[in-house]
Amino acid sequence: MTFMQRLVDFFSKKSTISKGGGDKAILKQKAVGKMTARERIAALLDEGSFHEYDLFVEHNCKDFGMHEKELAADGVITGSGAIAGRPVCIYAQDFTVAGGSLGLMHARKITKILDHAVKMGIPVIGINDSGGARIQEGVNSLAGYGEIFYHNTLASGIVPQISVILGPCAGGAVYSPALTDFVFVVDQISKMFITGPEVVKTVLGEEISMEELGGARVQVEIAGNAHFFAKSEQECFQQIRTLISFLPDSNRHKPVPIEKMQPRPTYLIENLIPKDSKIPFDMRDIVRAVVDNSDFFEIQERFAANAIIGFSRIDGETVGIIGNQALVLAGVLDIDASDKIARFVRFCDAFNIPLLTLVDIPGYLPGSDQEHGGVIRHGAKVLYAYSEATVPKITVILRKAYGGGYIAMCSHHLGADFVFAWPTAEIAVMGPEGAANIIFRSEIAASKHPEETRKTKVKEYSDKFANPYVAASSGYVDAVISPEETRAYVVHALKLTRNKEEIRPARKHGIPPF
Ligand code: HXC
Repeated sequence: MTFMQRLVDFFSKKSTISKGGGDKAILKQKAVGKMTARERIAALLDEGSFHEYDLFVEHNCKDFGMHEKELAADGVITGSGAIAGRPVCIYAQDFTVAGGSLGLMHARKITKILDHAVKMGIPVIGINDSGGARIQEGVNSLAGYGEIFYHNTLASGIVPQISVILGPCAGGAVYSPALTDFVFVVDQISKMFITGPEVVKTVLGEEISMEELGGARVQVEIAGNAHFFAKSEQECFQQIRTLISFLPDSNRHKPVPIEKMQPRPTYLIENLIPKDSKIPFDMRDIVRAVVDNSDFFEIQERFAANAIIGFSRIDGETVGIIGNQALVLAGVLDIDASDKIARFVRFCDAFNIPLLTLVDIPGYLPGSDQEHGGVIRHGAKVLYAYSEATVPKITVILRKAYGGGYIAMCSHHLGADFVFAWPTAEIAVMGPEGAANIIFRSEIAASKHPEETRKTKVKEYSDKFANPYVAASSGYVDAVISPEETRAYVVHALKLTRNKEEIRPARKHGIPPF
């Protein structure tokens, strides 16, 4: 072949493979409102930045007539590109090719790009749209999944791993996203479940639709498997681009700072707190009053809303924010909120992101549901995650900090670098009502006017302990500050802790309660 013939041959091969499963399959994909894998990559990455690898990889299955079947790029597109100029690795399963099903070579393309991301120290994004294990490949497709899980685990804490569910993600396939750091879903498009509706019907006799079983809303509101919900694929890609902007390329880097900004004047802290200390306020408003440009990129907004987590910037630098949300369940820590906080703290710690914790917590949620569900085991994750974290840890106690909640929400005792408290802070073993009822029980019972005595005792306890000064007198609070001073104190604390180094004795790894 001449040079020209070789080029023509190359372009023809490339063009055929790039068409994926062909026009009919592409039309089917579009008919259900989905982009093709290539369109998704183009829409997510900077224009023209995508470089594809392993286009010519072929499957190696010989059974069930597969030896005669060509599967374009083996149903997954892999490569690298850029988001806002920063390199990322990416793979996208192509549902138009054998339903994006996963065979061994398909899996090896994914593990190769994961390894590449780890070696180069750049984030990796996986777009999942697949019918699961390629049935014809039998155990080889299971081997493929196993290899992906292994590589996801090796990459964990080294590079940010992002999963996007844009179609079915069924069976064991769900465990790759579950091993990654952030999962994105899109309304009506994403479906995640271990066993599908038919199996549920056979085993349990229960009729349930795919959407009700594992649709996008289920994932973000009930199961908590997904972190971000979007109404369209385009919106989802914008969310991913925003998330990446807060993150470092790898654990060897710090997040890239941007120009610093003041909070917007609409979020004046002194106007946001109700005069009556019994009226709850939206903790997200307090976050916005403290951070640059009042931007708060909330994570898992719809799951365990009694806790809030997310990214902001302070003086241009990324900060991980954790707060109790008194508007939901009075801001208690329960099983789900504990899981949500602990995982986020560990992510920030792995990726050099300082933690700002805003406290207004009545404690852990009581009751048999929680006890039987393992609130002890799950609650311990928060203690472990904060204690383990060596990034800068700054805590502001706004109002309630009772009991285990006080300790858990990054108190000095768990290694906080700075704890500030507003004059409205109430740092005590429990709320004054509960405390007075217990310690003055006999006095109240013996009183001629039990209700009045109870009130007097509640006030007595409240005056003595429901304030920040007892904790401050022991040095558990570094400074009592007015709400207006919060940003200045946090900015200064972040500057001071910028080069913080905390070396712990070497160990293989700890044993967190998960
Ligand atoms: C091989 C598959 C496939 C699979 C889909 N296809 N899933 N081929 N292995 N797992 C093929 C179909 O045969 C079809 O090929 C094409 O992909 C498109 O599929 P359709 O069924 O036409 O699409 P749709 O109607 O949209 O339905 C999508 C679906 C359905 C709901 C995902 O395909 C489905 O139920 N697939 C099987 C899901 C499943 O049970 N997977 C195994 C899970 S077990 P043609 O040639 O007709 O276009 C598992 C274990 C892993 O994953 C454990 C790891 C630890």
